[in-house]
Amino acid sequence: MSTLITNIAELMTQDLEHRVLKDAAVVVEGERISWIGAAADAPAADDAVDAGGRAMLPGWVDSHTHLLFAGDRTAEFEARMAGEAYAAGGIAVTMDATRATSDYDLTRLAMGRVAEAVSQGTTYLETKTGYGLDIENEARSARIASTVADQVTYLGAHLVPAGQDAEAYTDLVCGPMLAAVRPYVQWADVFCEEGAFNAEQSRRVLMACREAGLGLRVHGNQLGEGPGVQLAVEVGAASVDHVNYLAGQDVKALAASWSGWDPATGTGQRGTVATCLPACDLSTRQPFAPARALLDAGVQVALASNCNPGTSYTSSMAFCVTTAVLQMHLSVHEAVRAATYGGALALHRETGRDADGERAVGSIAIGHRADLHLLNAPSATHLAYRPGMPLTYAVWRAGVRQR
Ligand code: NIG
Repeated sequence: MSTLITNIAELMTQDLEHRVLKDAAVVVEGERISWIGAAADAPAADDAVDAGGRAMLPGWVDSHTHLLFAGDRTAEFEARMAGEAYAAGGIAVTMDATRATSDYDLTRLAMGRVAEAVSQGTTYLETKTGYGLDIENEARSARIASTVADQVTYLGAHLVPAGQDAEAYTDLVCGPMLAAVRPYVQWADVFCEEGAFNAEQSRRVLMACREAGLGLRVHGNQLGEGPGVQLAVEVGAASVDHVNYLAGQDVKALAASWSGWDPATGTGQRGTVATCLPACDLSTRQPFAPARALLDAGVQVALASNCNPGTSYTSSMAFCVTTAVLQMHLSVHEAVRAATYGGALALHRETGRDADGERAVGSIAIGHRADLHLLNAPSATHLAYRPGMPLTYAVWRAGVRQR
């Protein structure tokens, strides 16, 4: 079954050539994109959709979410808006609520959050454990996450639960907890920050997880300058997320990590993506991550929602893109790229892996997964020009229309 989507006023491909086509068309065959080009040259297909002069982008790739949770932290949010600072300890409130929730309800809550994200144009997303924080509850979160998200990250090292010794808990995270989650996860992460895990504990977790065959990511430099970025680069993490407080040497290390990579072909030695989380920066009243400076230094940047009940209770990637343009000084093209191709790069899914049936996401190119986002606007610029407006008009995920 093939579908021709035609009369696309602006097709922002986010492919390796950064092409933006006018008066374009796309053909979807099954789950893949089989043709893109000028509408006037489009081949016939089984079915046709008139995009009505709207703009099309790749579906958002949300590379950082925490969707496996129950409970509510409105009071903490209100206190922050009244001037209190964010601290890692709030995680324990969500841990208690999550542990007290049945499998059925936890699944239902997570599925609802994924549905909300998809209805706003997200077509590929990662989510994390990290609100279980014991063997049984981390394994349960990982198992449920693997049924609702495209990729799952193990974040047993999110917080040392109250009353536990940090070294003993780190041993648990590196040993039996890791073994219990391993069947369900592709990645491991650690909250390397004052009040969570120090550099040595973080390195220990990352090494054990690498030994177990997991890819690595780091929550780093969120609440102050710290060792997170350097550690992420040292261990070859796919991304370091938050990156609010960066020293010059952090930016240099991130840029150097990409020096062996060819952006024109997307080949060579890949580095560590800096994932910026603007909704979180606003909700915690932290300075924005320096996305402009990172891009100018040659760092690969992703934008993600960080949807979670503590620091960023939104899955709106459009909001993140709008904020990145209006407040962080990215161009619309750069912000959309960070929220599509950048997310795919952070999840190692920017190129196709046809051998095992997985297709590239985050850009519109022949052979890539047909993850498409049609805006109710003639250009992607409207995402920033009309902030907060519901601009998602249609979404295809792996070739299947979602709305
Ligand atoms: O990415 N920073 C650590 N983890 C989450 C927040 C967790 C929470 O407060 O519940 C984040 O912002």
